[in-house]
Amino acid sequence: MRLVFFLPDGHRRDAIDLIHVGLLHTLQKLARISGERFDIAPLTLGIDRVESQRRFARPGHTRNHGQLVVRNAKINIFEVVDARPADPDEVLHRETFSITMKFQMPERITPARRIAGSIRLPGDKSISHRYAMIAAIAKGTSRIRNYSTGADCHSTLNALRALGVDIQEHGNEVVIHGHRLGEPAGELDAGNSGSTIRMLSGILAAQPFRSRIGGDDSLSRRPMDRIMQPLTQMGASITARDGRFPPLVIQGAHLRPIEYSLPVPSAQVKTCVLFAGLHAEGQTTVWEPVRSRDHTEIALREFGAEVAVERQKITIQGGARLEARDLTVPSDLSSAAFFIVAALLVRESDLVIRGVGLNPTRSALLDFLTGMGAKIQILEVAQKNGELVGDLRITSSSLNGGVIEKELTAALIDEIPVLAVLGAASKEGLSVRNAQELRVKETDRIATVVENFRRMGITIEERPDGMTVPGQQKFRAADFDSFGDHRIAMAFTIAALCAGTPSMIHGAEAASVSFPEFFQVLGQVTEGV
Ligand code: S3P
Repeated sequence: MRLVFFLPDGHRRDAIDLIHVGLLHTLQKLARISGERFDIAPLTLGIDRVESQRRFARPGHTRNHGQLVVRNAKINIFEVVDARPADPDEVLHRETFSITMKFQMPERITPARRIAGSIRLPGDKSISHRYAMIAAIAKGTSRIRNYSTGADCHSTLNALRALGVDIQEHGNEVVIHGHRLGEPAGELDAGNSGSTIRMLSGILAAQPFRSRIGGDDSLSRRPMDRIMQPLTQMGASITARDGRFPPLVIQGAHLRPIEYSLPVPSAQVKTCVLFAGLHAEGQTTVWEPVRSRDHTEIALREFGAEVAVERQKITIQGGARLEARDLTVPSDLSSAAFFIVAALLVRESDLVIRGVGLNPTRSALLDFLTGMGAKIQILEVAQKNGELVGDLRITSSSLNGGVIEKELTAALIDEIPVLAVLGAASKEGLSVRNAQELRVKETDRIATVVENFRRMGITIEERPDGMTVPGQQKFRAADFDSFGDHRIAMAFTIAALCAGTPSMIHGAEAASVSFPEFFQVLGQVTEGV
């Protein structure tokens, strides 16, 4: 069992053991109450939040009261009495913990007859990260509405808090009091989030202190040399495990501006260099091999920075004084992609998704699908904080085949797992090329897609840089695995909707990295057979 604790400041580690014991009791009790047949031993718990309240009391015992609140999550109240000192009668403090936990239990997905309704999805992950990081270094108090509910964007908030930034959350609204960053007491935790570690490093590289930033097992296997190279050229000094993997130790410096050509198309690396360039004296220029998502350029301008864009050349003027803003994050098109594909594939579907981000550097998905024959209408479009936002209406469609290659691969990189599912159901299938980058995402997404297809008996040809999925294949129910990757969990949930009998998604809770409400929202719009 792995327990992840986010303990309140100043909390003593010895209480962890007491909580651990309490958890085991509660799990056993839960198994009795809920009648669920789950094995306690292989459960992995991620504890989302621990809130503590100090009260004075006599030491002596630990009590817990467990109750099931929502599916796959529960709230427990533990009373932990601190009994460490030699004199057991000494009155010490007692802390009450309220713990939200997420179980790693498989989701059972039953086939769908129809996807219908009108939904609004949580805020865009890419934009949320950027607004939070920029607000943290801007002058004044920023308000960000519809901030992403995903764990990744909360890794960003927690890392910023550890850097001394005062951040409050009221539902999905985040209030950030911009501040000069301070040296963190311990390692900054980027969790599963490549965006957090790569983009924040651009800011850390310019600070007058040393910081260490790492993350979970998946993040610890992802390459960071792509940001180390430009930041080192700018004057920061960075070390990494085996020269290229997290954790990174970044010694900030007075940065020099550079002109940098990205060796891989990556909006995260572009953002990292632009954030560093913001702190350098003079102009920093980034050349992109293909145009990647431009949320950073738009957001920096919103906060008052000078950014010039000429095709694939982006230039930022260092030393800008950023001012706090009130902003609203559009809903995440990459999260919407799962619902779009579900509505296209499941017969008689009619789904409206409101307030989706339609930034042209992200919306290649809609053009690609429409080219395959998808019936997708854009109902209304407006601009908010420089980003396009609109409502989409999707109806079931008969789809031809498609090829994803060259620049299109970069533009659709996050949607490829769910598009592969769509490809297997299309008339002529789907071919994906130039997608080596998929191998260094949260999982090797070529390998994890191929493995799940194999489990459902679908033919797929794997190549080093992509895959070919023949069309018109029959979807059979299977035991799928997310391999801890949010987009794999959600893509194969959509595949499961199209099978003849129920499937299991193991590691389904991985979806919460970008979209904790995924299964709940899917339940709202799915009519079963
Ligand atoms: C992101 C950029 C993409 C994408 C990731 C989010 C961003 O990664 O896959 O989910 O917010 O800039 P790369 O920039 O590494 O391609």
